[in-house]
Amino acid sequence: MRGYFVVVEGCDRSGKSTQCERLVDRLQSQGKAVQLFKFPDRTTQTGKMIDSYLKQSTQMDDHAIHLLFSANRWEALAHMKSLLEQGTTIIVDRYAFSGVCFSAAKGLDFEWCRQPDIGLLTPDVVMFLDLSMDEAEKRGGFGDERYEKRDLQLRVRQEFNKVMDSTWKTIDASKSRDEVHDDMMTVVEGLSPNPGPLRQDLWMD
Ligand code: TMP
Ligand code: MG
Repeated sequence: MRGYFVVVEGCDRSGKSTQCERLVDRLQSQGKAVQLFKFPDRTTQTGKMIDSYLKQSTQMDDHAIHLLFSANRWEALAHMKSLLEQGTTIIVDRYAFSGVCFSAAKGLDFEWCRQPDIGLLTPDVVMFLDLSMDEAEKRGGFGDERYEKRDLQLRVRQEFNKVMDSTWKTIDASKSRDEVHDDMMTVVEGLSPNPGPLRQDLWMD
């Protein structure tokens, strides 16, 4: 059987990366084949350009950086596909939804933003780690990266509200780390035992 494609989305500081790692560790400790992916993947050529943009060492046109984020996902497609087909579940820390929501929050046209990611793999489930801005700021505030600013994050959150549909699983990220972890495990354990063929039709409807 193929692996599951699980996406975890949310605003910055929602605990996504920590929880994704924990989820992978837990599933691996149960003997399952699971691998973590994170977008942007800052290790590739496009990833290095994205990293330098996020760290504010380079400037770039908003459209150009949007396309780079998308290219960074297309680069990983073959690897993700082959793992899934071999039966490995992949937990993916951010995906095309972040891509659209961050760029739209900056003022780019929403439909334009969707175009470059059309035809990527479609996840089996998207979990949204939901945390209010006040809670996020209580967690020690944001770092120095380009998008870690209150105004932008509030707009990103509104964009997420627009892209999420009834298939998304909202996780209350204000709960304790253990509770959030348990809630995420419940979602993964609830995935259909027969997920059907892998779908490479993101936003093709
Ligand atoms: P990270 O904090 O998860 O490493 O992500 C870096 C930043 O990049 C974060 O503020 C979200 C943003 N982002 C985009 O703007 N477009 C994208 O396609 C992705 C994956 C992330
Ligand atoms: Mg970040």
